[in-house]
Order: sequence, then C-alpha cells, then structure tokens
Amino acid sequence: MKLKACLFDLDGVLVDTARHHFIAWKQLAESKIGVSFTHEDNEALKGLSRVESLEYILLKSNHVFSESQKLAMMTEKNEIYLEAVSQLTPSDLLPGALQLLQELKSKSIHTALGSASKNAPLIIEKLGIAQYLDAVVDGNVVTASKPNPEVFLKGAEMLQVLPQETVVFEDAVSGVAAAKKGGFFCVGIGESSALPEADFVVADLSHITIEKLEKSFFI
Ligand code: BG6
Ligand code: MG
Repeated sequence: MKLKACLFDLDGVLVDTARHHFIAWKQLAESKIGVSFTHEDNEALKGLSRVESLEYILLKSNHVFSESQKLAMMTEKNEIYLEAVSQLTPSDLLPGALQLLQELKSKSIHTALGSASKNAPLIIEKLGIAQYLDAVVDGNVVTASKPNPEVFLKGAEMLQVLPQETVVFEDAVSGVAAAKKGGFFCVGIGESSALPEADFVVADLSHITIEKLEKSFFI
C-alpha cells in the first residue's frame, strides 16, 4: 500500500498549546468553580472537546451550574486561552513539524488537520502553516469527539484517500483510539508507554521522514 496522505492532530503534535490550556482551565477552575486543576487533569483533557473538558472539571464540584453559566465559563476560559495563542508565531511549531510538512508538500503527499479545537483556524494562521494543509477538519465541523473516528474519516474523505493509505499523527490517547478505530496507521507523539495503541511512537516529528514512514507502513 502506498502512502497517500497524512493527517495531523494540532495541539501537542504541531504546536505545544497544552500549557496554555492548563493555565486557562486552572484559572477558571479555581476562580469560578472553586476546585483544583492539576497537570494530571490537563493530561486527561487532551483530545477532548471544550465542553467535555468543562464537564470533566465540573465533576469535581458539588454545585449544579445552569447551561448559561456553563457557556459563560467556556467563554471566559477561551478568552484567557485566546490571549495566549494569539501570541504564537511560526517559531512555536514543535521540532520537525515544518520540515515534515514541507517534505510532504514537495512529494505531493496530501495533508489535513484533524483537531478537536475550535481555535484551529487562528492557530494555523499564527503558525503560518495554511499553505501546507490541503484540508482542515476541526472542532467547528465535527459532531462526534475523539475517540470517535469522525474527524479523521472526514479528513480522508476530503483528501479523497482511504484510511489504509493514510497516516495519522496523534499525541492523545483518545486521538490514537480514534485513528485506530477508523482503520488508519497511527504514529503516536510522546512516550510509548502512554500510547500503547499507536503503531509506533516518537518523541516528536523530527524523528519522522517520509522514507521511514513508508518503510514502517509496508510492514
Ligand atoms: C484539543 C485539545 O486539540 O482541542 C484539547 O487537545 C482541547 O485539550 C480541544 O480541549 C478543544 O480546544 P478549543 O481550542 O476548541 O477549546
Ligand atoms: Mg493533541
């Protein structure tokens, strides 16, 4: 099977936004909900949508919040987050990301973003990578969150490729599960012990070349 396309998760694969999510959720959790928010909590939220993240944090509280209060909380969290991500520049791309995107483009292997984030368009613009993405599937268009494979299946459909011809790059457990459920080859980004479902795991995209990818893809 020939490698025809690559699908990239955004947060944690192309850019490290987890620390900005952490600061924003922690501020909201402590000041508005009255609960703690730890690094472990932040890890657990990787790949989840904004609303699922809020529901996770609210489980720590005995209070019942109305829908309008929840909406206001998400708006407030997102405002804090937006302030941070609006400062992003191309230098914030994670190691190897730009090189791999450039190599894929030069070899006409198609690419798409597959992210839960509704802020993906802004982040893509700040990172200057729009020219390297043939399609964008993000939190504004998906209806089912990872581990549902919808985000990646939509990406493959937009690129007119089959899952078996496509590699997904993911850093979240839920994202790796989504890729595998969808029938994709999945490269985990992070620590292998944390992503046992991935076909293989690398610390970051600087360890990936198309040649390496095609070799493992044929096994
Ligand atoms: C994912 C992140 O990419 O996007 C999650 O891993 C985040 O942590 C989710 O909650 C939604 O992000 P946003 O930008 O729409 O709030
Ligand atoms: Mg991610």
